Amino acid sequence: MSNLLEIENLESGFDTERGLVMAVDGISFELEKGRTLGIVGESGCGKTVTAMSIVDLLPKPAGRVRGGSIRFMDRELRDAEPEVMYDVRGNDVGVIFQEPMAALNPVQRVGRQIIESLLLHRDLTKTEALRKAVELLDAVGIPSPDMRISDYPHQLSGGMRQRVMIAIALCCNPDLLIADEPTTALDVTVQAQILDLMSEMQKERGMATLLITHDLGVIAEQCDEVVVMYAGRIVERAPVKELFAEPRHAYTKGLLSSIPRLSNERKSELRTIPGQVASIQDFVSGCRFCQRMGRDVDSLTERPAYEEIGGGRFLETCPECT
Ligand SMILES: Nc1ncnc2c1ncn2[C@@H]1O[C@H](COP(=O)(O)OP(=O)(O)O)[C@@H](O)[C@H]1O
Ligand SMILES: [Mg+2]
Repeated sequence: MSNLLEIENLESGFDTERGLVMAVDGISFELEKGRTLGIVGESGCGKTVTAMSIVDLLPKPAGRVRGGSIRFMDRELRDAEPEVMYDVRGNDVGVIFQEPMAALNPVQRVGRQIIESLLLHRDLTKTEALRKAVELLDAVGIPSPDMRISDYPHQLSGGMRQRVMIAIALCCNPDLLIADEPTTALDVTVQAQILDLMSEMQKERGMATLLITHDLGVIAEQCDEVVVMYAGRIVERAPVKELFAEPRHAYTKGLLSSIPRLSNERKSELRTIPGQVASIQDFVSGCRFCQRMGRDVDSLTERPAYEEIGGGRFLETCPECT
């Protein structure tokens, strides 16, 4: 087994007016070369902060990695020099975000944005970069790429813009692609196309992918393994098939029963998890799902052990929740 990425006890937080808040509170996982790991959880569970910690893009100075280790291609990235991180982001990791419009420069033609990225990361002449940019647009399924290359971002649909973002992320031939809610802003049909494209690119290039989503349907389609985050922690981690076949943590069960299914009996209602994720400054030190469920139990004070339970599975073993 060769791990591309090893996260150990990662802690990331923000200095706020009310003191330090920990958005990611001691999480560990690994990602092997060429595989896809999903991170799933409701909004506010710390998924984006996890991704931003890896590539050192937390909003500074308030946001910082406070503890643990991030090993990527056998290098420690925590507290790495800015030049090292610049190199990692330029040559080894591609990042795609939910809203391509926010990441693209609105006053620059898309072709120029791709070409600049290519010139920055690869040893190409301008003519070669132009040819490569057209090739990339073609590879990500943009029709008439030699014409589209002169478009401004606003002239493209949301799906096409996300394809451009993928093309830019692929410029450096990354070993790792981090995709944070890449299809959340898109229509369902376009969503499926973009996910297909990502799988295809991944297979072709042997990239590993860290796919962040709140949508378990996307996880089922795309991932080998899944990490379920709740309130800054991992409550469960498992190979995808096993997680769907036999969820162990109450939070995972809740997420699964909130997916609409055609096969549901006519009268059965969609069950949703009551309440909401606590505000970050109100997190208890113990089991945060017990906190959500309004339980008054000992496990609220002491953090449940997070243990390997066999079959490549890990579980936060709160007695109330498992
Ligand atoms: N710049 C910030 N300052 C303070 N808190 C933040 C900041 N960014 C995110 N957070 C908090 O960190 C928590 C996790 O956020 P995030 O990782 O974006 O969640 P997710 O991506 O799972 O929806 C949230 O409670 C959010 O309010
Ligand atoms: Mg997010």
